[in-house]
Amino acid sequence: MGKRFKGFTLLLMVMIFALIAAGCNSGDSDSGSGSGSGSGVDVGIILPTKDEPRWVQDEQRFKDALADSDYSTEILFSQGSSAKEKENVEALLNKGIKVLIITPHDGAAAAAAVEAAKKDDVTVIAYDRLITDTDAVDYYVTFDSLAVGAAQAQYLLDNIEGSGVPLYLYAGAASDNNAFLFFEGAWKVLQPKIADGTLVIANSSEAEALKDSADLSREDLGKIIGQVTTNWDPNEAKNKAQTHLTAASDAQKGDVAILAPNDGTARSIADVFASDSAVTNYLLTGQDAEKASIQYIIDEKQSMTVFKDVRTLVEDAMGMAIEVLDGNTPETTGTYDNGQVEVKAKQTDVIVVDKENVKQELIDSEYYDASEFTGLE
Ligand code: BGC
Repeated sequence: MGKRFKGFTLLLMVMIFALIAAGCNSGDSDSGSGSGSGSGVDVGIILPTKDEPRWVQDEQRFKDALADSDYSTEILFSQGSSAKEKENVEALLNKGIKVLIITPHDGAAAAAAVEAAKKDDVTVIAYDRLITDTDAVDYYVTFDSLAVGAAQAQYLLDNIEGSGVPLYLYAGAASDNNAFLFFEGAWKVLQPKIADGTLVIANSSEAEALKDSADLSREDLGKIIGQVTTNWDPNEAKNKAQTHLTAASDAQKGDVAILAPNDGTARSIADVFASDSAVTNYLLTGQDAEKASIQYIIDEKQSMTVFKDVRTLVEDAMGMAIEVLDGNTPETTGTYDNGQVEVKAKQTDVIVVDKENVKQELIDSEYYDASEFTGLE
């Protein structure tokens, strides 16, 4: 028994040694290393999930941008878990990172993880989503999220016909600060047209109760988002849309307008509305210019998307990281209040894309290749 145990221990030790020797890039990480400046990792990048094409897109853009970098990098995914995210931060700290670029799964929960990084003198850059209620965030690179929501809402207003048009509202996850900004931006544009009866809210008693308020407080926004959240989950979006249409009267169908927060949820919502014969036409928003949604736009199943050129965001984040590594202070263009401090930020504009300009904005700009789509004119 003892011998067998010893033999097993030896085998185990050999296996552990082999694993260590295989290097630290094993496991669920996706390393995108540049040529490297030593044995450790200079810049750690953490993205929230591989389950949404949006973030796989960011990973690819990071890899493209890093191909010729002199600094070594590693990209990890948190798979929609704050616990996994914290483990990822710790793993990267153990590899000696100097800069952490991170998109939090949950903006408030991520505070603990970045505080650990700060203790190790690591510069923290929040990428696309702000980390809230902590002083441990140095920089924030982002798109103009209020403008995203405003553009979605304006698109609906520009394309509805007549008045009394049923309006279905959907939002992102309440754990994501962006969900508040998108909804706030949209509400400012929609509210006057809700107040004057051009649009009639069909699926949110909380929004209905606030329809005369042009400016919503964070608490007000929280109430509406709590009711119409998709949690950024296409399945949740689908279930909610089904429930809403089942409860809707005929007057709440016909030609409708739908504020969907992003492409992943928009496609689910589109499928539900398209399969209801009492819905004669629907206008539907989105964001991210995901390939599947570009095809939906070409096929007239989704009306528009807000194109956020991830190449620019990656460039800004890596540009900042390199400035820090070179001992310089990165340039910023403004600040964001994260509930505790004003975080220095660099912000990028967004572009509205629909069937009319999809070729010009996404193909001619070489963001995507025409061969990836069918029926593109
Ligand atoms: C991002 C969106 C994305 C959403 C869901 C937001 O924070 O800004 O681009 O669609 O999260 O992942």
